[in-house]
Amino acid sequence: MFRTQARHAAATGEGTGGARGATAGGGGGAAGDGTPSRAPAAYLSGVTKTYGLGETTVQALDDVSVEFAAGEFTAVMGPSGSGKSTLMHCAAGLDTVDSGGVWIGETDITRLKDNDLTELRRDRVGFVFQSFNLVTTLSARENILLPLDIAGRRPDPQWFESVVQATGLADRLGHRPAQLSGGQQQRVACARAMVSRPEIIFADEPTGNLDSLSGAEVLGFLRESVDQRGQTIVMVTHDPSAAGRTDRVLFLADGRIVDEMREPTAERVLERMKAFEG
Ligand SMILES: Nc1ncnc2c1ncn2[C@@H]1O[C@H](COP(=O)(O)OP(=O)(O)O)[C@@H](O)[C@H]1O
Ligand SMILES: [Mg+2]
Repeated sequence: MFRTQARHAAATGEGTGGARGATAGGGGGAAGDGTPSRAPAAYLSGVTKTYGLGETTVQALDDVSVEFAAGEFTAVMGPSGSGKSTLMHCAAGLDTVDSGGVWIGETDITRLKDNDLTELRRDRVGFVFQSFNLVTTLSARENILLPLDIAGRRPDPQWFESVVQATGLADRLGHRPAQLSGGQQQRVACARAMVSRPEIIFADEPTGNLDSLSGAEVLGFLRESVDQRGQTIVMVTHDPSAAGRTDRVLFLADGRIVDEMREPTAERVLERMKAFEG
């Protein structure tokens, strides 16, 4: 974690404004070339987060430092209550931290004013929820374009087209969520998260409400987004086979990152999970 600490020192030394090095995430670049030399799309440094007061205090994140390299697909695993959702929410600016820094590219989001944070969440970060969170009265197309509509921006037609093609739902864009299967709805939600070309997407158990076939479709879509479009994704999952399709697995326990696996396979992830439980 030398790089994170060096960056953290530089950032805290320089205050908020300093633009250092290349901007992370700018389109992803050449995906899948295996070189982690680019600036991270996001990183956390010494993040702590507690909930509650007095005797009911829960330390959801306990001094977490981690980088998410641009163009990489990371899985986050760990027992229920280990802090996975808190990590995602803090990293995406959906929740505040007690201490530490959270960078999206070169921006420490813990120092942003409310308006700037709202804008950053809208333009530079995507989030996918377990429960899809689509607007039931809007078509799939309208749902996908909603974040851009709110921002008053038009989609990049080529980008929109490639994302829609990749969902496999090009012929269902006029359907409302209720007319789509769970797996299709979640692919719409993923496309919605991707349409603004965010630097990073956080997905909290995106396949948790899906049967294994639908889950595999969503996972295939996410994997392809990383491989074909250089998307950076961090995904919480309980499923070893889902984790086995990512580039890297982080294991959380009691609010700490306790292990990490590169180039995981379902078998190795399962073994590691058993070792923790044992
Ligand atoms: N809004 C909240 N208020 C109080 N406690 C919370 C809140 N959110 C999470 N926690 C607690 O923080 C810990 C981590 O929760 P969470 O990040 O949701 O874990 P996970 O996603 O790994 O199941 C748990 O003990 C949980 O009960
Ligand atoms: Mg959770």
